[in-house]
Formats: sequence, C-alpha cells, structure tokens
Amino acid sequence: MKSLYEEVVSMKIIAYGIRADEKPFLDKWSEENPTVEVVSTAELLDENTVDQAKGADGVVTYQQKPYTASVLDKLGSFGIKYLSLRNVGVDNVDATAAKRNGIQVTNVPAYSPQAIAEFTVTQLMRLLRRTPTFDNKMANGDLRWAPDIAEELNQMTVGVYATGRIGRAAIQIYKGFGAKVIAYDIYHNPQLEKEGIYVETPDELYAKADVISLHAPATKENEHMLNDEAFAKMKDGVYILNPARGILVDTDALIKALDSGKVAGAALDTYEDEVGVFNNNFGSFDKIPDERLKNLMKRENVLVSPHIAFYTKRAVRNMVYYAMDANKSLIETGQSDKLVEL
Ligand code: COI
Repeated sequence: MKSLYEEVVSMKIIAYGIRADEKPFLDKWSEENPTVEVVSTAELLDENTVDQAKGADGVVTYQQKPYTASVLDKLGSFGIKYLSLRNVGVDNVDATAAKRNGIQVTNVPAYSPQAIAEFTVTQLMRLLRRTPTFDNKMANGDLRWAPDIAEELNQMTVGVYATGRIGRAAIQIYKGFGAKVIAYDIYHNPQLEKEGIYVETPDELYAKADVISLHAPATKENEHMLNDEAFAKMKDGVYILNPARGILVDTDALIKALDSGKVAGAALDTYEDEVGVFNNNFGSFDKIPDERLKNLMKRENVLVSPHIAFYTKRAVRNMVYYAMDANKSLIETGQSDKLVEL
C-alpha cells in the first residue's frame, strides 16, 4: 500500500549547488509544492555528481563551470529531459549535447534586473566620487580634499551597450541622475527608439560616451569586444563598467588602456577568468591565484567585485522560485515560458 506521502508526490526534482543562502527559499518552495519531492545538494552538477540525478524527473542547478556533453549525456541516459538553471546565462551549456539528448533548458531571465543595475551605478558613482581613494586616505589619517576632485554623472554621456531588461533598468537610473544616455543594440526597444537614444554602431557609442556600461550576454560574436581597437575609438578618460560577462572585455587590453590613462576607471563585477576564483576564500590577498586580477584589484581607479551585482535577497529568492516553478511546469506540461533556444 502506498503511504500518504507517496500518494501526494507526483514528481522528483533534484537541485544541485544549493548554497546556504538559497536553502531557506528552496525549503519554502518545497513546503508550498507538496506534490514535488525536492532533493538538494550543495555539490555542483558534474561528472562526479550526475549519478545523484538518477530517478529524478528534472534537474535544477546553477554553476559557472560548464554543463559538459558527458554530464548531459548521462542525464539523457537517465531519461531526464528538463534542466532548469537558476541564473540568466546559458553560455556554459553544451548546446549540441542538450539537443542530442532532447533536454529542454530553462533559465531565469529576470530575477531582479534592478539589482544589477543599482550595483552598476553604485560602482560608477564610487569611481566618479573617488571614494576608494578617500577611504584609503582617511584610513591613513589624511583628511585633505585635493587632488581627488570628482566628476558629476549629470554632466556625462553614458553609453549603454545592450538594452535588455538590465540595460533598461540601468538607463532608468542613469536618467534619474540626469545623465545623457545613448545606447546600442541590434534589437531596438520601441520605447527607447521613440526617445531616440539609439546610435547605429558600437563605434558610434565608443566615440560619444564618457561611460560605457555593458549589459550584453556572452556570444561568440562579442568575445573580447572591448579590445585594443575598441579602446582606441573611445574618448580619453572613459569609464568602463562590466557587470555582464567577463569575456566581453580583453583584460590585457584594458590593463594597457588603464596604464595609458585612456580609461580613467573601471568597475568589473565580472572577469574573464573568474571561474574558480570568485566566490572563494583564499585567506589573504597574496594567495589569490591570479596575477592579472590582482593587478586590477590593486588600482584605486578599478573596482573589482566578485560577481555580486545579482546578489540580493530578492534576486536569490526569485532565482530559486522561478527555476523550480519552470522545472515543475516542464515536468507537468512540457511547457515553460522560460525555455531557452540553445
Ligand atoms: C547570471 O544570472 O547569469 C549571473 O551572471 C549571475 C550569477 C552569478 C548567478
């Protein structure tokens, strides 16, 4: 005879890589969805852990390391067809293997665009108002003003690269500060189009903007889009903001542009070699195993942060809830409004 629990439960979802800050949200979701058996592990989904998914109907996960062909083949061999990511980026999913195994993938396209936009502008304001320099000076007993005079955002032109949800949320905040905003995207948002903020080419954006604010997903086409040539086309003293994807910026080119003064400052919440480095504790600055990153971190006009723009209570809650909802919906109906084209 089936137990009451067995009669109620109609599906099993395994959630990988569940962090301590996600667990309470997952537990709450589980309580609210008694027909779903939720199994969770702090381990990431890889060759060593994929067997734990055997017997599940769907997999929910977030990680920056790749979802490899061998992992996806294994999931396929267990009959698992639904993989729901708790984040936006799907660039680490082996698309060919997912298709070969008929695995449908969902993401969470908007858990809180405002979280990322607010952080991006916060970092820009810290750069413009020289707060890292003042913090350092004050810690050493130096309370003088000069020579660290600031610039005002309301006097500047911000060039927003990509006007998806995050780009648009950032534009709202930039406008609130009174900045002039211009934008580039292949797709034009109708409202922004009416406002006439689009420029025709990235080069035009580079030539006109005092600040470049990147909000594009990673694609094959935009890898290292900010390289030597792109920096050469920008205004002297430009500010670079990258809360999007590390791979958009050629780090060596950025370092050169910082050294020459072409770039006046940069706020980097992403970094091309961040996997395995960000969200880890190395115990001391010296032990961070990336010299290029440390070169950037040592500069007062560069703000490196370890991919935390997204990291708010609201966003983390939504990442867990929306991914679990999407996976459940796929299992129940084969449909979800969060399916991604790989
Ligand atoms: C994404 O959602 O793709 C992000 O970049 C945030 C991630 C660190 C959870």
